[in-house]
Amino acid sequence: MASQLFTPIQLRDLTLKNRVVISPLCQYSAVDGVASPWHWQHAGSFALSGAGLCILEATAVSPQGRISPQCLGLYSDANEVALTKLISDIRDFSKMPMGIQLDHAGRKAATRPTWELFKGPYIPEAEGGWDVEGPSAEAFTEGWRTPKMLDDAGLTRVRDDFVEATRRADRCGFDMIELHAAHGYLLHEFCSPLTNHRDDRYGGSLQNRLRFPLEVAQAMRDVFPKGKPIGVRITGEDWVEGGLTLDDCVVFAAALKEIGVDYVTPSAGNVAPGMKLPKVVPGYMVHFAEKVKRETGITTMTVGMIYEAKQAEEIVASGKADMVAIGRAIMDNPRWPWHAATALGERIDTPVQYARSSPQHWPAYAAIHGVTLREGEGVMGHATRE
Ligand SMILES: Cc1cc2nc3c(=O)[nH]c(=O)nc-3n(C[C@H](O)[C@H](O)[C@H](O)COP(=O)(O)O)c2cc1C
Repeated sequence: MASQLFTPIQLRDLTLKNRVVISPLCQYSAVDGVASPWHWQHAGSFALSGAGLCILEATAVSPQGRISPQCLGLYSDANEVALTKLISDIRDFSKMPMGIQLDHAGRKAATRPTWELFKGPYIPEAEGGWDVEGPSAEAFTEGWRTPKMLDDAGLTRVRDDFVEATRRADRCGFDMIELHAAHGYLLHEFCSPLTNHRDDRYGGSLQNRLRFPLEVAQAMRDVFPKGKPIGVRITGEDWVEGGLTLDDCVVFAAALKEIGVDYVTPSAGNVAPGMKLPKVVPGYMVHFAEKVKRETGITTMTVGMIYEAKQAEEIVASGKADMVAIGRAIMDNPRWPWHAATALGERIDTPVQYARSSPQHWPAYAAIHGVTLREGEGVMGHATRE
């Protein structure tokens, strides 16, 4: 039977050749938000991976919205110039759709990159830290900055920052945008009753708490070209007593669908301390996407410990999710989609420069990847030309 994972999917005018998506992966390697040589190798290798779509890392819409001082940004002309060059360079050798995740880190901004977290998250001003902002003036926990509560003018400013970054993303040549409304960052902080204690129209009931994220998504949709999709990463569950539930997630997804959002990726957690994690087994968040899709009809992407071709295939073939985002498995092996396709009996185009290591032309492929090649494949033995 033909693979379902390697069938195309249409998001507005954008056709993904297959349903494997490279999950956004923060690299903490930018300078003042400007992409560095690291991003060329990172995105460049992903652009050759054969995935249907690559979504670049959480990218801040303002300097205050950066998770760390080294986060990628899309708030200045210099940021835009660098990302425009990155996309144009990638277009030289790959047609893979490239997206970008836009983010504001809220009260979890101004922290150290992961590899320096042993020093604690807090960065003093002298080392580049800054005042942070959120829905309510409550710190994540001890040792974190207490955010300034965003007032009406602040909300307008943040919404405008998302809109401006959306315009920049279009000019850079990105094919789509994913809005980050999960993992405890600003828009998630508005949604969750654990972090939003406002008494205005943006706090209180679920409907009120979803209002600001929905306004941001709507404002972005209004300025992004009609043919280009926007997806949103949302929260399946907070995994903290009294936090967001999967039923809340369904309500949010339905409201996003209503305003023209093209897909959602339900992820989870990280909004408040005291998380009671479920068993982190392969595909441990797939049921979020499954329920959201069943109850709202919105296109879904799932994520979380998906690393085997057969597992990804089963998720899509059984209709539990429409797309599968893969993070660490693709960092580990940026050729993951090539090998997944082969394992599922498919063949995908590899760059001509690398064709001689493909299953079609390289006898050792079968032994390394434990697959059976087709009749007539793997015929080139001794590499003779050079
Ligand atoms: C190094 C690293 C950076 C990440 N950066 C982001 C990010 O920028 N935005 C986001 O939504 N998730 C981010 N995540 C979460 C991943 O996108 C993904 O949801 C998570 O790793 C689970 O998928 P996996 O098991 O396939 O890795 C990051 C994860 C890792 C390991």
